[in-house]
Order: sequence, then structure tokens, then C-alpha cells
Amino acid sequence: MSRLIVVSNRVAPTQEGSPAAGGLAVGVLDALKETGGLWFGWSGEIVGHGGAPSIDQQGTVTYATVGLTRRDYDQYYRGFSNATLWPTFHYRTDLSRYDRREYAGYVRVNAMLAKQLSTLIKPDDVIWVHDYHLLPFARALRDLNVTNPIGFFLHTPFPVGEVLRTVPPHEELVKAMCSYDVVGFQTHSDRQSFVDYIERGHFGVSTEEGVMQAFGRVLKVGTYPIGIYPDAIAKAAEQLSDRKAVAELRDAMRGRRIIMSVDRLDYSKGLVERFQAFEQLLTDAPEWQGKVSLVQIAPPTRSDVQTYQRIRQALEGEAGRINGRFAQLDWTPIQYLNRKYERNVLMALFRLSQVGYVTPLRDGMNLVAKEYVAAQNPEDPGVLVLSQFAGAAEQMPGALVVNPFDLSQMAAALASALSMPLSERKARHSDMMARLRASDLSTWRDAFLDDLRHVATAASVTR
Ligand code: G6P
Repeated sequence: MSRLIVVSNRVAPTQEGSPAAGGLAVGVLDALKETGGLWFGWSGEIVGHGGAPSIDQQGTVTYATVGLTRRDYDQYYRGFSNATLWPTFHYRTDLSRYDRREYAGYVRVNAMLAKQLSTLIKPDDVIWVHDYHLLPFARALRDLNVTNPIGFFLHTPFPVGEVLRTVPPHEELVKAMCSYDVVGFQTHSDRQSFVDYIERGHFGVSTEEGVMQAFGRVLKVGTYPIGIYPDAIAKAAEQLSDRKAVAELRDAMRGRRIIMSVDRLDYSKGLVERFQAFEQLLTDAPEWQGKVSLVQIAPPTRSDVQTYQRIRQALEGEAGRINGRFAQLDWTPIQYLNRKYERNVLMALFRLSQVGYVTPLRDGMNLVAKEYVAAQNPEDPGVLVLSQFAGAAEQMPGALVVNPFDLSQMAAALASALSMPLSERKARHSDMMARLRASDLSTWRDAFLDDLRHVATAASVTR
């Protein structure tokens, strides 16, 4: 079978037990380990000047990584990727800014990365590119005469045309995306936004099921919701329940209920609203005062982007204010921790808690929602409170689905989660576990790669 090359900006840490770094790294690493192949991307380092990729073989996976110069990092990663595309794709046009030099840097770094990768590509390889940092990557490879099948999967939401058009080079970006053979999205509505943009702009049309002709190319446009391995997570959660961090939390809570949240410290995650809704629970249902704590684990991320510095300050302010208002000598309402935990330890913490509180204002999928459910004890499961704006909501009707802009509704959902009878908790949990098993991480990977390999076969027939 052809070799798989995965390309993403962030290449996952290779050591076992390393802290989770966002859904992409978790999903791709687990998926790639089984098939084997090459993973190419940024080393995470800033270097004086570019050089050839450094190669590191670990089991079935070969890692090929390159450093970025300060200018490349500033323009491509910190600038256009994370100060323009990220906020816009999460519907935060108010936080987005555009700088044409940063965009030029974004295109330049995509071309540089494509050039570096091209030296490693063999004729039978299939190439799977991930996420918003690399929208023009296939365009750059095609310019180097690479004819291998190239697919793209977007881990974030894809915004509706009205929002996308606030990014000045929107047309160029969508045109570049059409250089891929397969373009995949997390949800039907993300996929529909892409199709609508192309059809309403008269750039192309949908032909047969799931195929588009656009900008002179033919591409498959599909929905591939990313999953997890629920049974492996359940096992890890059970086995790690004696780890130090887990024992510490258990002791500190002394029988109190725990509402658990884990997110990168990002404005898309709705953390301020989440704290305020918890405050409202304590106000509306004062019987919970002293009996429940919100544990928010939020490792800082992209801390050299200004909008991330602001959200950090805002959150510290809110946590301090709410704790000052309600804390008792032996009870802290919000435990706010800006640090990373090993992924398996997080699973054990999920199992210890009664409510998983996952309320992003916008999210591509949100694997934490899925992991929370998988980590529960089936005999006494916790309840998931989930934002309707997380991609996961399309697949998890067993959650208490809330609008994260409606603080009263969120507070009411927390109250009903905390007092939900065991029979209902079990029914919701087993329904969601069945869905997680039916659409797991290998379903995601195989569906995408089957479509990509199908393109390769079809192309070789017509060649
Ligand atoms: C999200 C994005 C990923 C990204 C991750 C961590 O999950 O979809 O592409 O790698 O966040 O963010 P960072 O900027 O640290 O790579």
C-alpha cells in the first residue's frame, strides 16, 4: 500500500505521556501510529536561518521537522494564521486583523515548507495536510510539479461567506484550497459554508454526490468528524485513578461535587461566559454553595499573540472576583489552573468529576467533550454539558446541549446535571458511548484516506 505523509504545522511531541497539545496533535498521532508513515511540519523551534528537515524515526512513524526563522514565525504563525485566520474561522471578526505583509509571509512559508517536503516525496505517496496554517500548501506543491494525491482536513470551523469575506484574500485562499483532491470538514455546516461560497461566487458547481468542479479542478468535498478511541480512554481513566494529581484532587474535594473543564486558554473556548454561568448557578441555587467546585484546567497557548494576553487577564479577573464573592474558609468555588497535565491523568480527572463542562463559543469538533464521556465509569457516569457551537454537538445528543451566550440556560443545565438521577445518566452515557464507538478515530482516518486513495486510483485509470 502507498505510504502516508501527514503534514501539519504542529508535529506532536513524540514521547509517551507528554501533555496534550490540542485535538489535532492527539488525533493525528493516534491515527498515524497504526498506519505508519511520515509526519512533516514545524519543529516548534525558531532558528537563525532555514535548513534541511531533521529526521527522527520512532517506531512506525518518521518525523521530519523544520525550524522557522523569527520573521517566518511572526508573519506566518503568529500573524496571518493566528491573528487573522483563527479568529475569523471562529467567528471573531472583532479580534481579527489583516496585514498584507503577514499574508505574503504565510504564502511564502507554505511555499518554503512545500519545497522542503518535496525532496522527501516518493511517487506512490499520498499526502494528507491538516489545518488552517496550510490552506495554500497543495497549490505550492503543484507549482513544484508534485502530482501525488493531496488531501486537506480542516480541524477548525469553516465560516459562512459573509464572515470569510472579511479576510481580504478570501478568494485566493479558497481557490488555493481547490488544488487539493479531497477537502474535508468536521461538520455538515462547515462543508456547506465552503460549497456555498464557491457556488454563490460562481467559482464552481457541485456535480455528482460530494464532488465539485471549481477553479478548473475537480475535488471531493466531504464531512469527516474526527473521533477518539473510547475504550482505550476508558481503560486509561480507570487505570490511572491512583495517580498523584488525581489523589490530590479527590482529597481536596472531600466529597464535594466537581465540575470539570479542560481547554487551551483560548478566547474561542468561552471561558469567561463559563465562569459567569457558574457564578449564576451559585446565585440562583445557593444550596450548591460550598458543595460544588469548578475545576478549570487551562494551559496558556499562543501567549505572544495580544488577544491571548487579554483573555488571560480577563479570566484571572473573573476567577478572582467570583472566588472573592463566594469563597469560604474551606471552599474555593473556582480552581483555575494554568498548567498542562499528562493526557491520561486528565482522563482520570474526568472520571472523578460529576459534570464535564465544555462550552466553547465556537469549536471545530472539541475532542475533550468526547474524551469526557469515554472516561466515565459506566456504572456511575458524569453528565456532559456541551455548547451547541462545538462540532461535537452534531454527534452527541445525549449531552445537555446549551447556548454558551445564555448564562441562565447554562446555570440551569449545571443544576440539572448535578442532580440528574443515575438511570438517566446511564442512559445518556451508553447512548453516547455507542456513537463514539461507531464513529471513532479509525473511522475518521479510513473514510478520509479511502476517498484520497480513490482519487489516486481514478487518476491512474484516466492517465
Ligand atoms: C488547535 C488547532 C491546531 C493547533 C492546536 C494547538 O487544535 O486546530 O492546529 O495545533 O490548536 O495550537 P498551537 O498554536 O499551539 O499549535
